[in-house]
Amino acid sequence: MTTPPVNSRAAAAATEAVSELAPEAFGRVLVLGGGYTGSRFATVLARHGIATSVSHRQPREPDPDLDPEATGGVTAPHPLRFDPANGILPSARELAGVTHVLVTIPPDGSGLDPVLDQLGDQLAAMPLQWLGYLSTTGVYGDTGGAWVDETAATVPGLERSRARLACERAWRSRGLPLQVFRLPAIYGPGRTPFNDLRQGRARLIHKHGQVFCRIHVDDIVGALLHNLALPAATRPETLILADEYPCPSSETLGYAAHLLGCKLPGLQEYDQIAATMSPMARSFWSENRRVSSALLRQGLGYRLRYPSFREGYRASLNPTA
Ligand SMILES: NC(=O)c1ccc[n+]([C@@H]2O[C@H](COP(=O)([O-])OP(=O)(O)OC[C@H]3O[C@@H](n4cnc5c(N)ncnc54)[C@H](OP(=O)(O)O)[C@@H]3O)[C@@H](O)[C@H]2O)c1
Repeated sequence: MTTPPVNSRAAAAATEAVSELAPEAFGRVLVLGGGYTGSRFATVLARHGIATSVSHRQPREPDPDLDPEATGGVTAPHPLRFDPANGILPSARELAGVTHVLVTIPPDGSGLDPVLDQLGDQLAAMPLQWLGYLSTTGVYGDTGGAWVDETAATVPGLERSRARLACERAWRSRGLPLQVFRLPAIYGPGRTPFNDLRQGRARLIHKHGQVFCRIHVDDIVGALLHNLALPAATRPETLILADEYPCPSSETLGYAAHLLGCKLPGLQEYDQIAATMSPMARSFWSENRRVSSALLRQGLGYRLRYPSFREGYRASLNPTA
């Protein structure tokens, strides 16, 4: 998966969110999993002068876009290796001084948490002030389209969501200053339907009553920063990060086609094409729920930059605007 570009609009939005933070409140931030969301979060912190490390399984070349000389001295996150399947762990030196950790790494193929498994004891012995764990709203299972919030029962229907809930519980049992963030589909630059539409691969699918929820990657970063700026005692242990507009995928695809000025593919009935879809794609259509971010927005006062996919798609299409 490509790392989203940190463009001027995103950088401006991030500056707004990050300005709530006091860099001196941080030792070093360790982001475990420098993928789509983790790299974005790490970059924003580093640009704000907070010492930040970010893990990858493979060795990384320095990102030319984040070369301090090219960015006028702006700091870049320090890449480190974390590849537990091959016995590659951060060194004691790389863990020294870490006060805040964000875990974006999903359960492994056996359903276990590779971070807890390999670093759990070390993290528990460190003087951490915050450990954010990115989870999924899949833990709520199928609600037939009904709304859920953080107080709803967790009844995961999919194997991967059951594994996720088990990992959440394992993290909660460690006595760490933990915040679990439950996410629906993540989108943003490079993760929109635009390329599928351009290349004729998009499918316009209808399933009666079916909606999907989503969150723009910059609102994940913004919400994490917002939580970090709150007094520790007021940070919820579990928080849903989602925009305000669950809707059918035909609506999002229709708007994406409108923005591109291209034709939509013909409408297909889900029941007639389900057998042609991959098991993973079918699993997304097997559950229907609306997840509420009222606690984030009204309870904690976070203002979504992208309250619906419309603002998010426009910004993703023209990321330098
Ligand atoms: N994508 C979605 O729509 C969505 C929806 C709900 C929840 N989530 C969850 O939210 C989190 C962040 O999502 P994302 O889309 O930003 O993730 P992502 O782009 O796939 O990045 C995941 C990161 O975790 C690392 N990683 C994965 N498995 C690993 C392992 N076994 N050992 C070590 N490192 C490993 C990857 O390492 P490399 O850099 O080496 O590849 C990558 O840096 C994930 O836990 C994801 O499951 C995602």
